[in-house]
Amino acid sequence: MDQPHGEYIVIKAKDQGVQVIGLTRGTDTRFHHTEKLDKGEVLLAQFTDHTSAIKIRGRATIMTRYGTVDSGD
Ligand code: TRP
Repeated sequence: MDQPHGEYIVIKAKDQGVQVIGLTRGTDTRFHHTEKLDKGEVLLAQFTDHTSAIKIRGRATIMTRYGTVDSGD
């Protein structure tokens, strides 16, 4: 990456127990972190050297520079 860290995304949980899962960058794709959000909790997360994809399980609103999307509906 030319920048040390990438974009932030915002995840707002619409239910209890929404999971935010960080997937590793590179040829090996693994989960390296799982975060659980309660209803109404907000997480700001970045793409980094270690994280190239983020998976959301459950109902949430996800805000990125590309727009806003709802998961789990
Ligand atoms: N390790 C993969 C990579 O760095 C992770 C990944 C990126 C990925 N985008 C994906 C996995 C899309 C599944 C689908 O490229």
